[in-house]
Amino acid sequence: MRILIIGGAGYIGGVTAHLAANSGHDVTIADNFSTGNTYNVAKNAKLIEADICNRLEAEQLFGLNYDVVMHFAARILVPESMQKPYDYFQINTFGALNVINAASINGIKNYILSSTAAVYGEPVSIPLQEDDPTKPVNPYGASKLLTEQILQSYQITYSLNWAALRYFNVAGAYEGVGTDYPFVSHIIPSLLNQMRKKQPVTINGKDFDTPDGTAVRDYVHVLDLARAHLLAAEKMAGGQEICQPINLGSHHGYSVLEVAETFNKVTNASLPIIYGPRRPGDPAKLVAGNARAKEILGWQPNLDLQKMISDHYEWFLKDSRKTQQVLQ
Ligand SMILES: NC(=O)c1ccc[n+]([C@@H]2O[C@H](COP(=O)([O-])OP(=O)(O)OC[C@H]3O[C@@H](n4cnc5c(N)ncnc54)[C@H](O)[C@@H]3O)[C@@H](O)[C@H]2O)c1
Repeated sequence: MRILIIGGAGYIGGVTAHLAANSGHDVTIADNFSTGNTYNVAKNAKLIEADICNRLEAEQLFGLNYDVVMHFAARILVPESMQKPYDYFQINTFGALNVINAASINGIKNYILSSTAAVYGEPVSIPLQEDDPTKPVNPYGASKLLTEQILQSYQITYSLNWAALRYFNVAGAYEGVGTDYPFVSHIIPSLLNQMRKKQPVTINGKDFDTPDGTAVRDYVHVLDLARAHLLAAEKMAGGQEICQPINLGSHHGYSVLEVAETFNKVTNASLPIIYGPRRPGDPAKLVAGNARAKEILGWQPNLDLQKMISDHYEWFLKDSRKTQQVLQ
C-alpha cells in the first residue's frame, strides 16, 4: 500500500511508520516537527515537512495518490487543552479538516484517524463501548470528537471510508521510537521521569471502588496499536467499508498501583510510592470494550503490561535523546 502518515515523526505515528515500512509498504510521512523528531522518521520513508494548519500545505500533500491516509498529528495533553483550548481545536479539528478536505477532493478513499478514549467523558458503564454516549469533559476530547463528526460528513459527500481508532493508554516502544514528554499525564513516562529525578511516585487516590483502591486504566502496547492501523488499512484498501469508531484497548484494566509495582519490578527502580488526593473528575475505572476491534479488524492486543514497561524502559536507556542530554 501507498500510505501517507501525518504526524509520522511522533511517537505512535513513528512506530506505525516503522512497522508499515518494515512490512514492505510505501510510506510517506508529513510532519511539522512541533513535537516530533527527525530521529523518529523511518529510514526508508519519504518525508514532507508540512503544517496541517496551513491549508495550502495540507493541499500540497496530495500531489501523489495514496491508498490510505493515517492521521496522527495532534496536540495530546488533556491539562494543556484546558489551558489552551484554541490550540487544540485549531490543530486537532481545523488542521484535520484541512487534510480531510484536501484528501477527499483529491480522490483519497480511505482515512484513519487517531482518536481517543477522551471522547467518552465520564463513563456510563464499564467496559466502554463505541456506542456509549460521547460527552467529552475537556477540549482535547471535544476536538477529537468533532473530527470524527467531520469524517462522517465527508463520508456522505465524498464516500470517504474512515475509521476513528479510539486509543486508551499507550505505552512501550519499537525500533527506537518511544516517548518521554516531560509534562506528562501519561503514567509510564511519568514513572521514568520520577526515576530520573530520584523522586517518589505519587498515586492520586486510594479510595476508589477498585480491588486495591487505586484507579484502574486500560493500557495497550504501541506496537499492538500500530498493528491495528495496518489491519484497518489493509481492510479498507481491499474495499471493506469501516466508517465507524473502534476502541483500541485490552479490555483488561491495571490499577495504578499495579503499574507502579510492575515498573519497580521491571526496572529495579524501587521508587517509593506515596498517595495524594484524587484528581477532580478522575473516574475509578476506564476499560475498553474491544469486541468491535476483534470483529472488524481481527485485532486483539498481544503484548502485556510487563512488556510495555520493559520496552519503554529499554528505549529510555538507549534511545531517549532528552534523557541522554540530562544524564551527560
Ligand atoms: N499518546 C497517547 O497515549 C495517546 C492516547 C490516545 C490518543 N492518542 C492520539 O494519538 C495521536 C499521536 O499521539 P502521539 O502520542 O504519537 O503524539 P506525538 O506528539 O508524539 O505525535 C504527534 C505528531 O504530530 C505532529 N504534528 C503536530 N501538529 C502538527 C501540525 N500542525 N502539522 C503537522 N504535524 C503536526 C508532531 O510534530 C508529532 O510528530 C494523537 O492524535 C493523539 O491524540 C495518543
